[in-house]
Amino acid sequence: MRIGVLTAGGDAPGLNAAIRGLGQMAFRDGHQLVGVANGWAGLAGDYSGRDLSHEELAGIVGQGGTLLGTARYNLDDPKGGRDRVLTAIDQHLDALVAIGGDGTQRIANWLAERGAPVVGVPKTLDNDLHGTDYCIGFDTAVSIVAESLDRLYTTAASHHRVMIVETMGRATGWVAAMGGLAGGADLIVIPEFPLTMEQIVEHLVKRRSSNNAFSIVVVAEGINLETLGSEQRDEVSTEGIGGVRLATRGVGQFVAARIDAHGGFEVRTTVLGHLQRGGSPTAYDRIWATRVGAAAYDAVVAGKFGMIPVVQGSQVELAPLSVVANGQRKVPRELYELCSAFF
Ligand code: F6P
Repeated sequence: MRIGVLTAGGDAPGLNAAIRGLGQMAFRDGHQLVGVANGWAGLAGDYSGRDLSHEELAGIVGQGGTLLGTARYNLDDPKGGRDRVLTAIDQHLDALVAIGGDGTQRIANWLAERGAPVVGVPKTLDNDLHGTDYCIGFDTAVSIVAESLDRLYTTAASHHRVMIVETMGRATGWVAAMGGLAGGADLIVIPEFPLTMEQIVEHLVKRRSSNNAFSIVVVAEGINLETLGSEQRDEVSTEGIGGVRLATRGVGQFVAARIDAHGGFEVRTTVLGHLQRGGSPTAYDRIWATRVGAAAYDAVVAGKFGMIPVVQGSQVELAPLSVVANGQRKVPRELYELCSAFF
């Protein structure tokens, strides 16, 4: 079989481990692995597939990024991109494994609904794909946030400052909440449980009056600015696949400026940005990326197209792409309440 693989959307630590997990299983059984460069662009534009070798996949389990390259490519503009992908799969591949987040899995589902032999793999460090407990990249991002809070703690405590830390997280607050929990945040502000600016300041004042001279506040980049009293609209600029580039909204700076304006606090802001997606994946990401990559291979050889390996508890299960593509997993109230217990 000629099994194609692509990575689409933002890169994430663990992508290479997943490609390796898929590829080494395929090689073991005598199949070919075709690497498609730069996500959907490599099928909708000039076909970019090339045969990968066992040697190329050796030694990449701990490498960040993706050896295939990735892109945020809008298949609907110019029109006909999706049909060109269908044609390219038909002409060049016996199966395609699409590793990516919600946008990627929606396209994978669309293709599968039209009979294309497509299997997904869940990747987004936002960790918000519906139907899976884990997405490639999340654990590394959380570890980086936690370590950053440990490091920011020293300046916060020494200078008695309020440190605002802005994390990634497009529509959900998983990275902020779990990174904040692991790093001992004094307040976590996420889209699922909005706070007003008054509530944030009130919390800081209360902490200060109970002899907590400093505070570390984690804010997810996707929080609603209007709830915080901003007149700035959320639609600032768009990416290839049609989302707001959230980092440009400057929510960390916004919250810091408002606290500063209240008076009585010395405030600093750190935007963690792409540091959360960079570098080597954690062992946890390597293990689960390998497992879902290998499970994608199993699905392909079993002809289970239109499916995606997901993590449920400690197991990898297969779920329909339609389930993962059409929903979003939010931070549940009980988990946020646990975080809040330490504020
Ligand atoms: O969707 C994953 C993500 O890392 C988001 O958390 C973030 O908003 C976005 O990608 C950033 O994308 P880019 O690298 O294209 O700026």
